[in-house]
Amino acid sequence: MSRANGRQDGPVNGKPLPNPVTRLMAESLTGQISRREMLRRATALGLSAPLVGLMLSAQTKGVRAQDAVTPAPDPDAGSTIVMPQGLRTDLGGATVAAVLSDTTDPNRPFVENACAKFAEATGINVTFVPGETQSEARLQAYRQQFAGQSSDFDVYQIDVIWPGIVAEHAVDLSEGLGEAAGQHFEAIVKNNTVNDQLIGLPWFTDAGLFYYRTDLLEKYQLQPPTTWDELQTSAQTILDGERAANPAFTGFVWQGRAYEGLTCNGLEWQVSNGGGAIIEEDATVSINNPEAIAAFERARGWVGTISPQDITTFRETETINVWTAGNAAFMRNWPYGWASSQDAPAVAGKVGVAPLPQGTGEGARNAATLGGWQLMVSKYSKNPEAAIELVRFLCSPEVQTSFAVERSMLPTIGSVYESPDVAAASEFIPRLREVFEGGAVARPSSVSADLYGEVSAAYYTTVNEILSGTTSAEEGAASMEEEFNAILEEL
Ligand code: GLC
Repeated sequence: MSRANGRQDGPVNGKPLPNPVTRLMAESLTGQISRREMLRRATALGLSAPLVGLMLSAQTKGVRAQDAVTPAPDPDAGSTIVMPQGLRTDLGGATVAAVLSDTTDPNRPFVENACAKFAEATGINVTFVPGETQSEARLQAYRQQFAGQSSDFDVYQIDVIWPGIVAEHAVDLSEGLGEAAGQHFEAIVKNNTVNDQLIGLPWFTDAGLFYYRTDLLEKYQLQPPTTWDELQTSAQTILDGERAANPAFTGFVWQGRAYEGLTCNGLEWQVSNGGGAIIEEDATVSINNPEAIAAFERARGWVGTISPQDITTFRETETINVWTAGNAAFMRNWPYGWASSQDAPAVAGKVGVAPLPQGTGEGARNAATLGGWQLMVSKYSKNPEAAIELVRFLCSPEVQTSFAVERSMLPTIGSVYESPDVAAASEFIPRLREVFEGGAVARPSSVSADLYGEVSAAYYTTVNEILSGTTSAEEGAASMEEEFNAILEEL
C-alpha cells in the first residue's frame, strides 16, 4: 500500500534543495501563503515530515511570541512531594536526560524540582530538557530524534494521541512497570498499549474545562452559562459593561490558532452540538453534518465579538495570559488553569470551574476533549533502567498527589482523587471526576493510528480558515470529509 511521501522521517538526503522547495520554504517562512496551501504543496512535493514540521513551527513563531514567558524558578515548587518508598538506589551515578514540560509551562518549576528530588534520593543524575510548547511541533522534534536513533534523550513526555505514532521507538514497560500500571485508569493504560506492549506510563490526564469569573457574574446578576447561547449572551453583557473602563477586556478566550489545541476546541464544539467526533470509532468519517457545521458557524461568530479578533492565533499560553491579567469573563482551558488562576493576583479567589457549555438541539451534551501526557522510555536509551526509575517516580501516587495539590494537574490514579489534600487545594477535581474519568471525548487517534497527525493538521487548518472567514463552514466540512477519506484509504 502506498504511503504519503510527506510522512517519511529523515533528512532531504543532504542534496541541494530543488527550486520549488526553496520557493515554498521562502513563501511559507515569510507568511505569504496559508498553512493549508503550504501543507498541500509540501505533500505534492513529497517533503519529509520533519521538514514540514519545521516550516510549520517557523510560520507560527513570531506570532505573539512576546507572550511566551518562561516561569521563574521557584524553590517552593514540589515541596509537598513525599518521596515514594522503594526507589532503586543501586543505579547511582547514571545520568538520564528527560524531555519534560516546556519553556512556557507554568508547571515547569514543579517538574524541575521533582527531578532534583529524585536525583537526591537515588543518586541518578537527571538532565531536565524542556520540550517544544506546541504538541505537533514537539512530535516533529521527537521524530527527528527517533529517525537518527539518538540516545541523547532517555525519557520523553508523550501526548495521549501519540502512542500509535511513537510505539516503535519505545521500551516495552510491561516488565519494569507493569505492576505500577495496574494502579492507573484502565482506559489510559489501554490507550498506551500498542501490540501488547506498554509504551508509556500515564503522568497526568487532561480534559477541557470552562472557567468563569464569579465576581463578574455576581456584578451582572448572571448564573454560570450552561449552553453556548447563554455563554454568548452573558459574555456580551459583561463585555458591554466592562469595556469602557478596560479596553483590553474581552468576553471569552479559547484556543483558535491552527495547531493541535484547535482540534481539541473544535471537537468540543461539534460533540456538544450533536455533531459527531470527526471520524467515528468504526472509521466512518462523520465531519460533514449540519450540527457540526452549525457549531463551526457559532464559533466563527465569536471572533471579533465576544472573543478578540486575533483569537485565531491563540494557544493555551495566550489564553491564560489574557485570563490571569483579569481581562476575560470566560475561558476554555485545561485543568492547570485553576492553579494558574490562584497564582494570579488579578483573578485569585474570583474563579469558578464547570463543564463546558452544551449546544442546542438533538444530541446536544457536555463535551470535554480528553488530553493528557504519558512518560515513555526511548528504545535508544543507554540507561533504560535508570530511565524507568524516573518514570516510576514521576507517575507515582505520591508525585501525582502533589502535582494535583500544587498545580491542579489531574491524576491518572483513582485513589489520588480521594485525597483530602487534593480536594482542599483544587475543589473542582473530585467534583468533576466523572468528566475526567468517563465523559471525556477522545480525538480520532486510535482509528487513524500513525496518520493521526495528518488528520489533525487537516482539521485545525480548515477550522482555522473557517474562523478567519476564508472558507465557509459548509465548504470546510465538505473538504475535510474528502481529505479524511483520502487519508483513511492509506491505512
Ligand atoms: C494539552 C493536552 C494535550 C493536547 C494539547 C493541545 O496539553 O493534554 O493532549 O494535545 O493540550 O494543545
